Amino acid sequence: MMRFVVFAAVFATVTAEVILTIHDCGSHDAIINSIKVDQCNAEPCIVQKGKDYTVHVNFTATRTVQEAHNVLHGGLGFISAPFPLQPENACQGSVTCPIVAGQTYEYVQTMTCPTFAPSIAVQARWEVKDEHRQDIFCFTTKLQIHS
Ligand SMILES: *[C@@H]1O[C@H](CO)[C@@H](O)[C@H](O)[C@H]1NC(C)=O
Repeated sequence: MMRFVVFAAVFATVTAEVILTIHDCGSHDAIINSIKVDQCNAEPCIVQKGKDYTVHVNFTATRTVQEAHNVLHGGLGFISAPFPLQPENACQGSVTCPIVAGQTYEYVQTMTCPTFAPSIAVQARWEVKDEHRQDIFCFTTKLQIHS
């Protein structure tokens, strides 16, 4: 019985993922096709401080851009704090640059929930910016932060 419970818990951790509703916040160089989050099984995602969450964004570029920079903010009303992402340069991750108009890409990026985050629901604003600091794509999602 115990063995089954442990197995079920591991299985759930490995397979949990959710397809997010796309809330586009000003994508300038791409169309977002789909957004998936691992280690989350329902929207809003419940995230624990210090834990890793992986986001997959399938997007089609509408403009060719040379650079891609990861920018993530967690906000509450008018207050918003940057959530650091590593690497900052999105071209060093799942996507190779230049990003070419007309091509479809799968962007994969891991976020570690900051330990300084408050234990409340925040609005996350996830942007990948081009060399002109314009959003290649931008989406928002709610995160329920737990300690
Ligand atoms: C993106 O999504 C489309 C449509 O679901 C799919 O055909 C394609 O294989 C995906 N592309 C990548 C790079 O994952």
